[in-house]
Amino acid sequence: MKRITYISNFSRPLSLDDLDAISEVSIRNNKRDGLTGALFCFRNIFYQILEGEEEAVDRCFARIEKDDRHSRVFILEIEEDIERRKYGEWEMRTVMLDESTDPLMRPIRHLLSTLANTHRTLERYTPQRVLREIQMGGSPDQIQARYEERTVMFVDLFRSTSIFESWPVDVATMVLHRFYDTALNAIQREQGIVSKLTGDGIMAYWPANNAGGAVQAAIAMLQEFDELRKRSAEKDNPLRLLHAGVGLATGRVLEGNIGSSVHMDYTVLGDTVNTAARLEGATRKAGWSLVFDESTKNRLQGMEASSQASASAPIRLIGRFRAKGKEDAVKLYTVDQATLRNAIDHEALRQEIRTLGQVLYGKTK
Ligand SMILES: Cc1cc2nc3c(=O)[nH]c(=O)nc-3n(C[C@H](O)[C@H](O)[C@H](O)COP(=O)(O)O)c2cc1C
Repeated sequence: MKRITYISNFSRPLSLDDLDAISEVSIRNNKRDGLTGALFCFRNIFYQILEGEEEAVDRCFARIEKDDRHSRVFILEIEEDIERRKYGEWEMRTVMLDESTDPLMRPIRHLLSTLANTHRTLERYTPQRVLREIQMGGSPDQIQARYEERTVMFVDLFRSTSIFESWPVDVATMVLHRFYDTALNAIQREQGIVSKLTGDGIMAYWPANNAGGAVQAAIAMLQEFDELRKRSAEKDNPLRLLHAGVGLATGRVLEGNIGSSVHMDYTVLGDTVNTAARLEGATRKAGWSLVFDESTKNRLQGMEASSQASASAPIRLIGRFRAKGKEDAVKLYTVDQATLRNAIDHEALRQEIRTLGQVLYGKTK
């Protein structure tokens, strides 16, 4: 037999009638399927234990997971091959903790809200691939390292050092948040996996057969930065100086856990990752905010050829780049689209950031 324990959040305010409806269907179905357990509701949190024959538990949980009355289902534990039920007497007991006046329920309410808060915090700080493993009840340290074909993205906020040096902390963090918010949302919309935040940048990756997703995410975030700068054109608005570059490279990476028992990181490594980082660096001189390598270009053209999609903006060769210690120069490509052009003079940007810093601190020269 199998037992699954999870927590989730209401996806919208649910009335007592809504909760009764869930309870009713659970009691009916679970009796039919030989499932037992308990469902606790508290504020906007569900906590459920579901146990029974493996196949029945899996079938029921698959329905529950898809239910749009709740979201952010986070599995706390999956117990396989259990011999005895814990909740033999009930079909499915539903406990509305908000309603209960039993003083014994107070610590349970406290426990549940602490548990939910801890998991929401964990969600924000944990690499996505590791989180997925935890949410599915697995052990992230057991994920085997392997070689994979990936499109790797590096995004960098231009002149971040000058920003941090010159601007008041609240302004610098506000700009940093806008940068991360825009870029991370664009990556998430295209199903990219965020590997790490580097302080003033992001490393993310996609399966190489979705290189198009990586390019779309890059174009979307760069367009949004462009619009944000245009909307923030007043002289003392720091957002008008928010510029970023994106580098993409496609190829084989080693994906998996690295580190030790003291500190673990789940990430991708290898030449493709180094190339993506260098191409991001190349955006400073290339005159384009998006630069990618030839294998990314080939993947994109392969995808276009196999889909019926109308031709998107043309891909353009913009130069060559010889990396240190490499025989062959890497060809640099971009998407020929006006918003991706950047003619930033980095020295002038640095000066502007400093001058604005003086204004923001109320100093005048
Ligand atoms: C928090 C939560 C817990 C649920 N628990 C159960 C359950 O234990 N058993 C069950 O059959 N359905 C449960 N449901 C409802 C299922 O998601 C789904 O609506 C239902 O199983 C569909 O049953 P039907 O096909 O008989 O209409 C739960 C839903 C929510 C939101």
